[in-house]
Amino acid sequence: MTNALDQLLLCSSADGLIGSMRSDLERVLFDEPAIHRRLDEIAAQVSEDYCHRQLTVIAVLHGSLMFVADLLRRIPLPLKLDCVSATSYYGQSQSSREVVFKEATVPDIAGRDVLILDDILDSGNTLLAIRKMLETANPRSIQTCVLLSKKKARARVVDVDYVGFEIEDEFVVGYGLDFRERYRNLPFIGVLRKKLLEQT
Ligand code: IMP
Ligand code: MG
Repeated sequence: MTNALDQLLLCSSADGLIGSMRSDLERVLFDEPAIHRRLDEIAAQVSEDYCHRQLTVIAVLHGSLMFVADLLRRIPLPLKLDCVSATSYYGQSQSSREVVFKEATVPDIAGRDVLILDDILDSGNTLLAIRKMLETANPRSIQTCVLLSKKKARARVVDVDYVGFEIEDEFVVGYGLDFRERYRNLPFIGVLRKKLLEQT
C-alpha cells in the first residue's frame, strides 16, 4: 500500500509523473530533439519569408502554447504576438461542429501580415473559423502554420502554408496537445492508447 510519504516522493519526481503519462501512450511519434530540429527549419523559412513584412503572430490557445514559445524564440524578427482561444462544439455530426471564441474583440491587425499558429489540423474547422474572424479586421495578409497535420479527407479545402509534420489520422497528445486537459506538459508527442479514448 502506498503511504503519504511515497505519494509525496512520487509527486516530487518528474520522471515518475512523465513515466505514468508515457505509459498511457501507444507509441512516441516525435521526441523533443526531433520537434526542435523541425522548428529550426520552419523558423528559418518564416524568418526569410517575413523579413520585410509587419509580422503579427496569432497563437491559438491552449494547444499551441509550447509550439509558439519554442518557435518564436527561433525567429529574430520584430514581431507582435496576440492570442485567440477557440473551442469547438459538436452538433449532431462532426460536420455541424461550431467554433466559439472566448475573446469579445478581434485582435488589432489592420495592415499587418498575420501568421496564425495552431497545434494541429484535424477537420480544419477551427483554422477556417479563425481565418474568417481575422479577415474582418483588415490585415494585409494571412498565412497559417500548424505543427501537425492529419492525413485525412476534409469536407472543405484548408490551405496551410507551413506544416511541421504530417501524421496519420490518430489521436495524439503531448507538447501542448491534450486529452481532457491532460498530457499537455509531456515534452514529446505520442499516440494515446485507444482504450483511454473510449473511456467515458
Ligand atoms: P479541427 O478539427 O481542425 O478544428 O481541430 C480542432 C482542435 O481539436 C485542434 O486545434 C486541437 O486542439 C484539437 N485536436 C484535434 N485533433 C487532436 C488530437 O489528435 N489531439 C489533441 N487535440 C486534437
Ligand atoms: Mg487547438
